[in-house]
Amino acid sequence: MSGFKRVLIILLSAGIVLTLAAGGGFLWVYSGAKVSTAGRGGFRNELAVPPLARSTVGPDGTRVFDLRMQAGETEFTAGRRTPTWGFNGSYLGPTLRAARGEKVRVRVRNALGEASTVHWHGMRLPARMDGGPHQMVAPGATWSPQWKVDQPAATLWYHPHPHGETEDHVQRGLAGMFILDDAKSLGLGLPDTYGVNDLPLIVQDVKFDGARFDHGHGLLQTTGFLGDRTMVNGTLDPYRVVGDDLVRLRLLNASTARTYDFGFDDNRAFSLIATDGGLLEKAASMDRIQLSPGERAEIVVRVRPGERTVLRSYPLSIGQDFYNQRFNGGDDSFDILELRARERLRHSSALPVTLGKPEIPDGSQAARTRFFDLKVSGINGRRMSMGRVDATVARGTTEVWTVRNTNGIPHNFHVHGVQSRILSVNGRAPRPALRGAKDTVFVPDRTTVVLAMRFDGPADPNSPYMYHCHLLAHEDQGMMGQFVVVGKGRRAGRPSAVHAHQGH
Ligand code: C2O
Ligand code: CU
Ligand code: CU
Repeated sequence: MSGFKRVLIILLSAGIVLTLAAGGGFLWVYSGAKVSTAGRGGFRNELAVPPLARSTVGPDGTRVFDLRMQAGETEFTAGRRTPTWGFNGSYLGPTLRAARGEKVRVRVRNALGEASTVHWHGMRLPARMDGGPHQMVAPGATWSPQWKVDQPAATLWYHPHPHGETEDHVQRGLAGMFILDDAKSLGLGLPDTYGVNDLPLIVQDVKFDGARFDHGHGLLQTTGFLGDRTMVNGTLDPYRVVGDDLVRLRLLNASTARTYDFGFDDNRAFSLIATDGGLLEKAASMDRIQLSPGERAEIVVRVRPGERTVLRSYPLSIGQDFYNQRFNGGDDSFDILELRARERLRHSSALPVTLGKPEIPDGSQAARTRFFDLKVSGINGRRMSMGRVDATVARGTTEVWTVRNTNGIPHNFHVHGVQSRILSVNGRAPRPALRGAKDTVFVPDRTTVVLAMRFDGPADPNSPYMYHCHLLAHEDQGMMGQFVVVGKGRRAGRPSAVHAHQGH
C-alpha cells in the first residue's frame, strides 16, 4: 500500500469514528432533551390554593386591594429554602376578585430592591393603569392604579412587565390570578366555591439546582427557559381531594416559554367553559386543551366516587421539525395534578346549555386591517422601542389583525387592553377551543392567525398598550410593539422613551 493510500485510509476511518461519535453525542443530547414526569406517581403534597385577597370598599364604592412585591424564601421541598419573590408572601400572590361594574384600586407597593411593574393581563382598562413597561414602580414606591371593571366574568392574571426583565421577575414568583364575576355567571349554577369545587391552577415549569432555581436557557432551545418538572400554585407533586362530582379547574399557563397540552391520564372528556376572556356561548366537550404561555382555560371535569385521576400534559406538535420539536419541549409530558375524589360526592347540577356571550366583534365592521410579522428579532422587522408608537388606533373602532409566523420557531401573540375573536387559523375556522374571547393565541411556525378586536380605550395618545410574544424571553429581547388609542382623527402623542419611575 502506498503511503498516500495509507494516509487516506487513516483519515477516512478517523472521519467515520468522529461521525459516529458526533452522531452518538447528538443522540445522547437528543434523547436527554426529552423530559417526562408522566406516570411516576408520588403526588405527596397537598395543592396550595392562593388565598383570596382581602379588600375594603371605600365610601365611594371603590374596592381597594393591597399588593406588596417582596423578596423571601420558599420551601418547595421541606428543608430546602429557595430564594423567591412574591406578592404579600414569598411566592406567587393572592387571588384578586371583583365583579363587573365595580370600581377597583390596587395599591401596589414595591418592597423589592429593584424597580418592577404589575400588569393586569386580559383586563380592559385605561392604558395608564395597565402596568406595562411605562408604569414602573421604583423600589419603596407605591403605585395605585384604578379602573372600573367593565367586561364579562373571566379568569385573568397579573404579573410584572419591566422591559427586558419580565421573564426574570415572573420566574422568581411574581404572578397571581384576578377573577372577575358578573351577575349572569354567578346565576348559572357552575361550580363556584373557590378552593373547593372551583380550583385556580397556576401551572409553571421549574428546574432546581440544589435548593435554588436554575433559570438557565438550554443551548439548543430557541423558546427560552424550559424546566424539567412542573408545579401548580407553587406546589410540587400536588394532589387535591375533591368532594363534588363536577370540578371546575381554572387553568393558567404562567410558564415563561412552555406550551402544554392538558388532558387526563385516562383520556376522559371534559367541558371547556371559558377561554382567556370569559365564558363560551356553549360548553365544548374535548379531551385535550392546549395552552401557550399566558393563556387560560376553564374546564369542568366529572369525577367518580373514590377514584384518582391525573391531569397530565401530553406531547404536542409545536409546528417544528423533529429537532426543534424535541429541543423546545414538544415531546415532553408532565403529571400536573392528581385529583382524589372522596367516597361520597356531592351531586352538582348539570352544566347549563348556554353559558355566556363573548363580547368580541365578528370583524365585519372593521375600520382597518393590520399585518404583524412575528420574528424573534422584532415584530414587522422592528425591535421594541419605548419611545416609538407602532400603531395608532381610533377609539371605538374594530380592527382585523393578521399575525403570521414564518420564523422557524414557535411564538404566541398577546394584545393588551382588549379581547379578540379568532377569525381564522391558516385560512380555516378556528377549532372549538379557540372560539371564545382570547387575549393570547399560539402562533407556531408557518401559521397565520386572523383576529378581530374592538378598541374601546379610553383615548390617551401618550400612553401605549403593548402587543407582544408571551414567550417571555422573546418579549424581553424586543419582540414587542406599542399602540395607542386616540380619538377619531387624532394623532399619537409621544410616550416617554425611558422607564418612568413613579411613586412617592
Ligand atoms: Cu401577560 Cu404584556 O403580558
Ligand atoms: Cu397583558
Ligand atoms: Cu416568541
